Amino acid sequence: MKLLENGKRLDGRALDEIRDVKIETGVLKRAAGSAYLEWGNNKVLAGVYYPREMHPKFMRDPTKAVLRCTYNMAPFSVDDRKRPGPDRRSQEISKILSEALSSVVLLEDYPDAGIDVSVEILQADAGTRCAGLTAAAVAIADAGIPMRDLVSSCAAGKIDGEIAVDLMKDEDNYGDSDVPLAILPRKKEVVLLQMDGKMTKEEFKKAYKLAFDGAMKVYEVQKAALLSSMDSVEGGE
Ligand code: CDP
Repeated sequence: MKLLENGKRLDGRALDEIRDVKIETGVLKRAAGSAYLEWGNNKVLAGVYYPREMHPKFMRDPTKAVLRCTYNMAPFSVDDRKRPGPDRRSQEISKILSEALSSVVLLEDYPDAGIDVSVEILQADAGTRCAGLTAAAVAIADAGIPMRDLVSSCAAGKIDGEIAVDLMKDEDNYGDSDVPLAILPRKKEVVLLQMDGKMTKEEFKKAYKLAFDGAMKVYEVQKAALLSSMDSVEGGE
């Protein structure tokens, strides 16, 4: 499948252009914090339940909270029905999301507690781990849990021999490789970096830069969503 036509992609984007990202906070009444995110055709809901005593008890840590993130794809989120329940892929993504988020939350402030973060993929179109992580970070901030930074994420990959940011489904399926990245946008630290497929060192450097710049654009959307929720609280809405 041809993915590039005169330098433009199947959906008309340039190589360094990310899909539209929209985020809304405070969408779930009973969650401590929540966010709904649309990123191109991805639709993601993230909710936080905290801080409570960690269960099961043997997982408690008297020195800090334990943050668990659960990534789940709805059966209707993909073309072929997704069998409900955890599988190897969702367990892997839950683990890397938990690790990335644990590195930014001030867990020491809540000894013995458990912070549960749910990431529900309602519609998937490639890049769901980046979308899920981005939504989860906003949901944690919306909950007022102290963090040393946000987490912002974006991927870049190789399609028809060119490096492009934020691959969508057909590009992910028929492309050559994909590099998801997540950063702490103010501290400029990397908290997630994976690679699927092969790239030369030069290609990787280019992909890293495109993904990094993409994540910084996502950060602006996260910030705007959090600021507008603060405005509506102050405005008494
Ligand atoms: O979503 P992400 O790019 O982070 O992870 P992936 O494992 O590279 O999956 C890429 C895409 O494949 C997903 O976003 C879905 O659109 C699709 N997929 C699917 O159709 N069925 C699955 N069981 C898993 C993924």
